Amino acid sequence: MSIPSNPRAVVTGGAGGLGRAFCLELARRGGRMVVADIDAAGAAETVALVERAGGRAFATTCDVAKLDQVERLAALADEQLGGCDVLINNAGVAVGGAVGAVPIADWEWIMGINLWGVIYGCHVFVPRFKQQGRGHVINVASAAGLLSAGEMGPYNVTKAGVVALSETLASELRTHGVGVTVLCPTFFRTNISKSSRTTNNDGARAMVEKLMDRAKIQADGVARVALETADRGELYAVPHADGHWMWRLKRLVPERYYRTIVPKLMGAMRKRTGTTGDQP
Ligand SMILES: NC(=O)c1ccc[n+]([C@@H]2O[C@H](COP(=O)([O-])OP(=O)(O)OC[C@H]3O[C@@H](n4cnc5c(N)ncnc54)[C@H](O)[C@@H]3O)[C@@H](O)[C@H]2O)c1
Repeated sequence: MSIPSNPRAVVTGGAGGLGRAFCLELARRGGRMVVADIDAAGAAETVALVERAGGRAFATTCDVAKLDQVERLAALADEQLGGCDVLINNAGVAVGGAVGAVPIADWEWIMGINLWGVIYGCHVFVPRFKQQGRGHVINVASAAGLLSAGEMGPYNVTKAGVVALSETLASELRTHGVGVTVLCPTFFRTNISKSSRTTNNDGARAMVEKLMDRAKIQADGVARVALETADRGELYAVPHADGHWMWRLKRLVPERYYRTIVPKLMGAMRKRTGTTGDQP
């Protein structure tokens, strides 16, 4: 169930950040790919970088929150690549703020991209993978989907949904020769905080930016870990040590984790950034 050499791939959100890092990593493996994004210019830039790195790529505009556009994406992969070996459901956005303070429109926006986008990707590609008796789905979740820290409700909910969907697929696909990996990184440097919506004050954004810069594993390393985890046929890819330990702690002492540890960590973070958090 490992990723074949010279893989044919579809990468959503491939115009920048982690999606672009996935494309470049696939290019190093001799991959051919469709780079799908709402940002056409960024997707075209990724294509140029992939080709410079020795891969082949095609850019397409695709809003993953729309089922018909994801269906068109699969048809394009058939047309341009003769099929698909690896689907990387990577497109994502972030919403911060407390439950009750975050506008419902922002909940709906993030659910459309982060959760429905991944559901549509799996709905469209999994039957194809089953039919061909091979393929691999890499769903990009986040450590947020395992850890559920405060004032990130919409993001946590979508990412926990992606974890649940991937876990479900792991048992459903076991006998079909199809693999699934769910990627759960903590922060690393990309553009996600620029496109994010938040009701917190600017300090929260500044804190995220700092955490991104401090990450020991950046986008290229995160993409590599995800692909290597998929090569081993494993479900969970948790590249960063902090995410790994927090996840372990949560499973060990879940009551204490949510009642004491998370509020303490959030208090310390607010102190450092001078943020007060939402008052819904
Ligand atoms: N950067 C981090 O710290 C971090 C941590 C954990 C998980 N992630 C996840 O990694 C994934 C990639 O994000 P990133 O950090 O590279 O951010 P990014 O903003 O740099 O890239 C996200 C890409 O998704 C695209 N996109 C947004 N809405 C879309 C839509 N409706 N349809 C198609 N494409 C769309 C954007 O145009 C952009 O190119 C996301 O799922 C994110 O939640 C990021």
